[in-house]
Amino acid sequence: MLCVVVGLPVACAGDVPEVPVGPGGTLDAELVLGRDIYERRCANCHGADGGGGTGPKLADGSVVEQYPDPADQRALIVDGRNAMPSFDGRLTSGEIDAVVRYTREVLD
Ligand code: HEC
Repeated sequence: MLCVVVGLPVACAGDVPEVPVGPGGTLDAELVLGRDIYERRCANCHGADGGGGTGPKLADGSVVEQYPDPADQRALIVDGRNAMPSFDGRLTSGEIDAVVRYTREVLD
C-alpha cells in the first residue's frame, strides 16, 4: 500500500472509516472503541477501509456473509487461524466485541 511504502502510517489513519453519527447526534461509544482497535491492530493487514491486504477483505458485507453468527467471527479473532494472529490475551473481551461490531456495522 502506498502509505506503507512512503512510511507515513499517520497519513493512513484517516482512511479508517469514521463511525457514523447516530440518530440522536451521538456516537456509539462501543463502535468508536472498535474503530480505534481496528486502526491500531487490524488495518495493517486488512486494509484501512477493510478492503483487504495481507488478510482477506472484511468490508462490503464480506464478514457478515462469512460469519452469519458474530460469535463465530469473535472466535476466529480470539483463536487466530494460519497467518491471522490470535488476539487472546492481547485484547480484552470488550475490545474484541467492539472490533467485531465495527467490522460488521461500519466496514459493512
Ligand atoms: C498479521 C496480519 C493480520 C492482522 C494484524 C489481523 N489479521 Fe485478520 N486475518 C489475517 C489473515 C492472513 C487471515 C486469513 C486467515 C486464513 O488463512 O484463513 C485473516 C482472517 C481474518 C478474518 C476472517 C475472514 C474470513 O473471510 O474468513 C477476520 C474476521 C479477521 N481476520 C479479523 C481481524 C481483526 C478484527 C483483526 C484485528 C483485531 C485482525 N484480523 C488482525 C491477517 C491479519
